[in-house]
Amino acid sequence: MSDSLVRTETRDRVGIITLDRPDALNALNSQLMADLDSAARAMDNDPDIGCIVITGSQKAFAAGADIKEMQPKDFAQVHYEDFITDDWEAIAHLRTPTIAAVAGHALGGGCELAMMCDLIIAADNAKFGQPEIKLGTIPGMGGTQRLTRAVGKAKAMEMCLTGRTMKAEEAERAGLVAQVVAADELMDRVLETAGTIAGMSLPAVMACKEAVNRAEETTLAEGVRFERRSFHATFAFEDRAEGMAAFNEKREPHWKHR
Ligand code: HXC
Repeated sequence: MSDSLVRTETRDRVGIITLDRPDALNALNSQLMADLDSAARAMDNDPDIGCIVITGSQKAFAAGADIKEMQPKDFAQVHYEDFITDDWEAIAHLRTPTIAAVAGHALGGGCELAMMCDLIIAADNAKFGQPEIKLGTIPGMGGTQRLTRAVGKAKAMEMCLTGRTMKAEEAERAGLVAQVVAADELMDRVLETAGTIAGMSLPAVMACKEAVNRAEETTLAEGVRFERRSFHATFAFEDRAEGMAAFNEKREPHWKHR
């Protein structure tokens, strides 16, 4: 069995998954994606983890799907056999909130992986792009869809058709990233946000994440209906009763489900 291509650690209810393939700038090959998938699922099923952070190195979050692995494949192999399975989309379906902590290159599948996370916090040296067009192909892990929803058609079309990269500052202005921070403070700042999320009631956080994500998938009327049902459902949570009681009693809430 080969060594894992991700490293994992847990700090104060925050699970951290670090992509660890430095020689290839964290290019996403089948093994790395399988290792990421199993680490993320294990953390998602751990009730002691309230937020999952996915990160890479200072030089690269991930420079895309592994071009050396893709190059010899034919249609049948990529479509019917072994490449880009549902597992590659698994990060988008975790119930626990996820943060992509991005420094350096987030290109192709790397940008797409970051966009599968619930929010992106970027170092000031981060660069985002979908350069697949330069390889004679197109994004294949959601890039044409999620980038368009994040930054709008004009910028998404420009980036996907020309392969140009977007620096962190522009990415923040365009709505792709939640915060830009100094590169040497990236993990400290990400852990602050992750810690805040992990300190909330877990069922409330999961319901909230599900409702916000619904906005990307449905009409406004349907999304508002979904949100109202979920809001009503929170009245079955012990933590909802505790949160409101704590406010009225002017004290901190003691979440039962964290
Ligand atoms: C395989 C990669 C790689 C990739 C970098 N490497 N990106 N290997 N797949 N996507 C490898 C290089 O081959 C090299 O190894 C090592 O990492 C260092 O890369 P350099 O190019 O020497 O580094 P640098 O000059 O700093 O340039 C960095 C870079 C460049 C600008 C990020 O590496 C680059 O353009 N990479 C490809 C980016 C890309 O096109 N991504 C989209 C992939 S398609 P060796 O051993 O050769 O020296 C995609 C589709 C996703 O993501 C959808 C379907 C899954």
